[in-house]
This record gives sequence, structure tokens and C-alpha cells, in this order.
Amino acid sequence: MRKLIIAFAALSVLGGASAPAVAKTDPASDLNEFRQYFYKKFPGIKLQEFSDGIYALDQGRRAEWQLMEEFPSYEDGVNKGRAMFEKYGLASCFKNGGKGIKQHYPYFDKKSGTVRTLEGDLMACLKRKNVDLKAEGLRFGKGNFAAIAAYMAYTSRGEKQNVVVPNDERALAIYERGKQHFYAKRGQLNMACADCHIYNSGMMARGNLLSPALGQTSHFPVWRRKWAKGNESGVKGFGTIQRRYNGCNKQVRALPMMWYNKKKYKYEQHPEYVALEYFHTYMNNGIRLNGPAIRQ
Ligand code: HEC
Repeated sequence: MRKLIIAFAALSVLGGASAPAVAKTDPASDLNEFRQYFYKKFPGIKLQEFSDGIYALDQGRRAEWQLMEEFPSYEDGVNKGRAMFEKYGLASCFKNGGKGIKQHYPYFDKKSGTVRTLEGDLMACLKRKNVDLKAEGLRFGKGNFAAIAAYMAYTSRGEKQNVVVPNDERALAIYERGKQHFYAKRGQLNMACADCHIYNSGMMARGNLLSPALGQTSHFPVWRRKWAKGNESGVKGFGTIQRRYNGCNKQVRALPMMWYNKKKYKYEQHPEYVALEYFHTYMNNGIRLNGPAIRQ
């Protein structure tokens, strides 16, 4: 963690051209330090168990959650996602017909020099197939769109996340941008993702138990009652990981300071969030996918 803290100290005085040089980007050693921190903080929890988030930390909440997972509210939504996946003929856009591939996302695309997320590729595919997005109720982040992503996640259950950051300056720069987003303080509350999900993980914040960042990317899209707005099942409860990022950035009242401009879902697939997802998922490498999952 030491290196990360130093990198962060550099960040907080970052003012553009005069920024001090940050240590050479070394994803493998970042990953090692990241894991070691959580192993030390939560000595009873094994790597794979982190994928259960707060339910790995609290036995009472775990029991309630396991009951919910027995007849999961997302099941119906996953079936709808599969039906749409087939109806629009999306298999032909993806390797292996789109099945069991989520563990390789996000990936660096050498040709374009950009990072591709599963949701980004899914939207590109829908457009290539000339699906009428508006008529079909498909937009980034939630609902029908997230249900298709949830179906794709479902076919990848059990696969270990395996994000590659190649030794290519462009990939390393995107990784570094994501890492900085994670460790930089922002918003009126002046808090970083790391403040809540690393240093204060396992503690309470306004009635919420804070999950460790290790294990956070394994189970998306998630299904939340809050998002479902009273529906016990169906596609409405789904949200992608970037929807969740936005929720957390809203909590610290950071959005007006960033790119948010009241245009709904404009944030989705913004290069800043793509970079964050790249870094964040890389830090979860080796943990098996178990999405979709129910979250509070
Ligand atoms: C003020 C504290 C706070 C900050 C800062 C914060 N979050 Fe969260 N976050 C929460 C709370 C509370 C929850 C819900 C409980 C939980 O699972 O941790 C949550 C949930 C999440 C989840 C879902 C966890 C799961 O198991 O499904 C993800 C992913 C996440 N946050 C990522 C981030 C990222 C990335 C950032 C920085 C952009 C961030 N958070 C900043 C408080 C915070």
C-alpha cells in the first residue's frame, strides 16, 4: 500500500504540468500490494470469498442474503436478457458466441489503442445489428440493456477474472488514469473510492457496511431492490458497474465537478469510467465471476 499512498500524495498536489513524476506503472506489483492489504485486514477471508462483498464480512447479513439468492429476483431478468440476446442475434459480434467471455473484460484493443468494456461492446453490437434502441428500451446502465449484460455475466459464472494490461504505453496510461480516479479525493465530501472501499472497508458509513474493493467487480450487473422501485423481480432492478460508480460519486457529491451535465447516462462509457473499470477489474484478477447477484 505504501506505493499507492505515495502516488496519492503526488496526486493531491497535482496541478498539471508541474506534477511530480509518479513511480513507474507496475500493475502486477500494485495487484500484489492490493491483495496483501486485504488479506491482512481480513485475515479469516480467502481470496474467492471476497466476491460476496459485505456478505463475506457479516454473518447476519450473509444469512439473509443467502435466503434471497435461493429464489433470486434476477432470475426472470436473466431469462429476459437471454431472450433479447437471441432475438437481436448478438452472438455473432462476440468470441465464442458471447458465452463465457466476461472474464476477459475490460481488454485493451491494440488496433484502436482503447480499452473495451463488455457493455461498450454490447452497445456497439446492438448498433451494428440496427436494433431500434429507443423502441426496445435499451440504454446504458440499467433495465433491458443491463439484463442482456446480466445474461452474459451469468454464462461466465465460475470463470476467473483475467484482465490483461499489456506492456504498451497506451494501455498503461489508461490503467494509470483509472488508478488515479480510484485514489483521488473528490466532491464536497472530499473522499476517494479508496477511503471508503480500502481504508474504511468493514466499517459502517451511515448505516451501510463498506465493502472491500477486492471482490467488487465479480458480480455485476447487480440487482438491487432500491433500483427495482418496489418490483420483486424483472429487469428494473439491474444496474451495471458504471451505474454503481456514478452512485458512489453522487454520494460524495462529486458529479457536478466532473462531466455530469444532467443528460441521463452520459457518464456511461466515459473514458474516465472505462479507465476506472479497467484498473478496478484488474485488481480483482483471479477472483471467480459470480454475477449477477443481489445487493442491498
Ligand atoms: C463515502 C463512502 C463511499 C465512497 C467515497 C465510495 N463508495 Fe462505493 N459504496 C459505498 C457504500 C455505502 C456502498 C454500499 C455498501 C457496499 O457494498 O460497500 C458502496 C458500494 C459500492 C460498490 C458495490 C459493491 C458490491 O458488492 O456490489 C462498488 C462497486 C463501489 N461502491 C465502487 C466505488 C468506487 C469505484 C468509488 C469511487 C468512484 C466509490 N465506490 C466511492 C460508499 C462509498
